[in-house]
Amino acid sequence: MNFINKSILLTFITFIVGCLATEVQLGMKLLVLSTSFPDSIIKSLQSYSIEYDYLEYNYKNPLKGDLPLYTEDNQPKYYGVVLGNGDLTVYFEDTGLWNSILTSKQWDYLYEYQKKYGVRIVALDDTPSINFGTSIFDPSIWGVSSTQEMVMADNDVAKSIFNEAGVKSTATLDTRGLYHVPGKIENDKIATPIITLKPNEEIKEESVVAAYIKNDDGERLSFYIAFGDWSINSVMLNHLWISWVTRSLYAGERRVTFTPHIDDVFLSTGLLNYETNELESTYNSYRSTVEDFEILKNWQETVVNKLPEGSSIKCEIAFNGNGVLAVINPAIALQVDGERYCDIEYVKVPGKGVSRWPEGNYTLSYDKEFLENDSLFAYFDKEENSKNFFWSSHTFTHENLDEATTFDVENEIKTNIEMAKLLNIYDKPYYSGKSIVTPQISGLRNADALNVFKKYGIESGTGDLSRPTLINQENPYLPFFTTMESSNYEGFPIIPRTPTEVYYTSSTVEENTYIYNLIYEDEIGESTWERFINNEVDRTLNLMVSLRNEAHQFHQINLRSHDLEEKESLLQKWSNAVLEKYTKFVNWPVTSLKLDDQAQLYLDRYNRITYCDIEKSAVIEGDYVTAIKISPKSIEKDCKIPITLPQNAYKNKNESKIAFEKRGKDRLVAWVSFEKGDSEAKTIKLNPPLAWATNAEAIEEEEEKVCWSEELGYRCCNNGESIVEYIDESGWWGVTKDTKEWCGIIKNKKCWAEDFGLPCCESDKLDYILENGVIGYEEKYENDATRPAGGWCGIKSAADLVNSNAQELFKEQLNL
Ligand SMILES: *[C@@H]1O[C@H](CO)[C@@H](O)[C@H](O)[C@H]1NC(C)=O
Ligand SMILES: *[C@@H]1O[C@H](CO)[C@@H](O)[C@H](O)[C@H]1NC(C)=O
Ligand SMILES: *[C@@H]1O[C@H](CO)[C@@H](O)[C@H](O)[C@H]1NC(C)=O
Repeated sequence: MNFINKSILLTFITFIVGCLATEVQLGMKLLVLSTSFPDSIIKSLQSYSIEYDYLEYNYKNPLKGDLPLYTEDNQPKYYGVVLGNGDLTVYFEDTGLWNSILTSKQWDYLYEYQKKYGVRIVALDDTPSINFGTSIFDPSIWGVSSTQEMVMADNDVAKSIFNEAGVKSTATLDTRGLYHVPGKIENDKIATPIITLKPNEEIKEESVVAAYIKNDDGERLSFYIAFGDWSINSVMLNHLWISWVTRSLYAGERRVTFTPHIDDVFLSTGLLNYETNELESTYNSYRSTVEDFEILKNWQETVVNKLPEGSSIKCEIAFNGNGVLAVINPAIALQVDGERYCDIEYVKVPGKGVSRWPEGNYTLSYDKEFLENDSLFAYFDKEENSKNFFWSSHTFTHENLDEATTFDVENEIKTNIEMAKLLNIYDKPYYSGKSIVTPQISGLRNADALNVFKKYGIESGTGDLSRPTLINQENPYLPFFTTMESSNYEGFPIIPRTPTEVYYTSSTVEENTYIYNLIYEDEIGESTWERFINNEVDRTLNLMVSLRNEAHQFHQINLRSHDLEEKESLLQKWSNAVLEKYTKFVNWPVTSLKLDDQAQLYLDRYNRITYCDIEKSAVIEGDYVTAIKISPKSIEKDCKIPITLPQNAYKNKNESKIAFEKRGKDRLVAWVSFEKGDSEAKTIKLNPPLAWATNAEAIEEEEEKVCWSEELGYRCCNNGESIVEYIDESGWWGVTKDTKEWCGIIKNKKCWAEDFGLPCCESDKLDYILENGVIGYEEKYENDATRPAGGWCGIKSAADLVNSNAQELFKEQLNL
């Protein structure tokens, strides 16, 4: 009897715990299957730089045999599967019927793989099906193209999918322009709604557009809607399934940047004359003031409070030194014609061109004292002011460089470097000397200019989304490299940037709206500022949530604020509107990058994709992924690759090639560096192991015990010794039981209070809280003799405060 019971129990355990093979290395690639090219999927995977294999099957190209799911040495290649269009249905010309391009035997082979390795399947553009517990909401209508609002379903599965992706339920999503087949749940034992559709004219009741399905084969996420790479709604849905299918474990990263660029700083810009629609010259021009920059600095500091933790915002100043001279005395400023007289795509013949500079080998013959006659120069030559912004050169006079000779370009570059030195910014970490924003995106087809750039250490230039010929068309997340054809120069990288519709002549809302209407009224009718800003927010938000890293172009005149009623510049208004909507959509931190780092981001991405062939696999033991194995196959150039981790990892201090990056509450990213020729594999151990099998329970992170006091000649405290007796800059100290010597306390992060001889508070709802916010009181334990301090207890959530600030907090209470 006893024996039988036990064996039944054992079988049961084996079924639950042992449903995955003992140790497997599962390739960290996604398999994308579709019957036609799925732009939206591919773009989104590119945006994370997640690796995938795309296999396309259709009537002309059916699958022969089984899907290629294993490597040559029989290792499983994929840790997730994405179906571009549900059942992969195509029209069979021979039978005149619509059917799946895969046979049921081929599907079974896939489902067997799904089950064996705990792999999740995502089906986009799917059709509700009773096989998966759902059905079409109204078979007489079938699918619709009309717009319906999409809302997160009210259940724990839906919440956890949104949560995992960092997508907020306040994101306003709809089906605009996307054909969809409203569904309903038929069998709630296997299907759960994830996103519902609000009723509209056509579908008069609530229906389901995304469902989670859990059946004997495993888990599936189905979307009953088509996807388009132009649609922000598709982009948002992509984030949901990417996090879900990878379980936030992927060889890639999700990085949002937001960097306003301010061109033409120090120059003055003529204001618009509404009567002539022309720009006024010196008589009526605007030049941003010290006060404008102070307002901007304050804005930078406060705007982050509204952004997700880990965010930081800093504007880039692209400056023209000649503006300093012009303000002190127009007569000493260089008079160089800045206009473009050639076609925008003009390719200059090297050695030819036009020289506009009045003198050669020009040097600035002014000292700091003299230049401080300009109050803006005087403000910025103080580090306390310049360091609040990023800085880069926009050339000295703002000459268009398309036709410029070597002579002119050299003057433009060298003289502005001299000005940067006088400003005391040239060697500062916030200065970018390796990249440039050229005036009017010029000079990038001028080999002489590119050679001068290289001579002065400038290794990349800034492009513009309105110049498609200078953009990487295959992958917008990568730089464009010049060619002999484009520029008579091979391989100069151009980093994209986006032009805003805040114009280089606009200092106020009225001026900008006026010009916007001059440009767009014929096309879209008259616009108010509100309409203008909504259009801009939509355009920019789409780029941001698509993880596009383009900086945003503004000009010095857009900083005007000090003499306006609201003391708020166009740049601020525009950025506030964009960031406000961004925070309604996602909770990912957003950061600004200086020009050099911006360029490096694109170049790093390019290098790792192009020159580093590295196999990444998830090591599965039982039902859990315990580690990531990173095995270089061929490293042709130094590179580093990001591995985003669902939670924490064991950090081996001896391992100098793996650096960890964490921004706010965002996922931890391990950056693994390789040098040319490296072949040694690296392993990252997950802490805790990631529950991978369908029914595996999540486990808690194990506290990492690093004995910090050993290197100071003291062992660490054992259990029972870890009571704080002394605190210094090295850490918390206890006393050993046997020899009464100092020992280093390994902090108890789950319950810091135990290290101070206190119990932890059971909940955060306390009867009383001490002023320092770390110690609370639970009345119910007032007379509990087993507690050393009656009702007093340590508030668990104050752990960070205690760990960084313990001495201050406990000085009085503990006589430390
Ligand atoms: C600039 O100076 C260099 C060396 O000092 C000289 O070789 C060159 O001819 C000069 N160029 C001009 C245009 O004066
Ligand atoms: C600028 O300042 C210098 C002092 O360094 C002074 O001698 C000079 O007159 C000033 N020039 C102008 C144009 O204000
Ligand atoms: C780290 O390096 C030290 C000295 O080389 C060695 O004694 C120690 O075992 C290493 N630790 C790990 C975790 O590899």
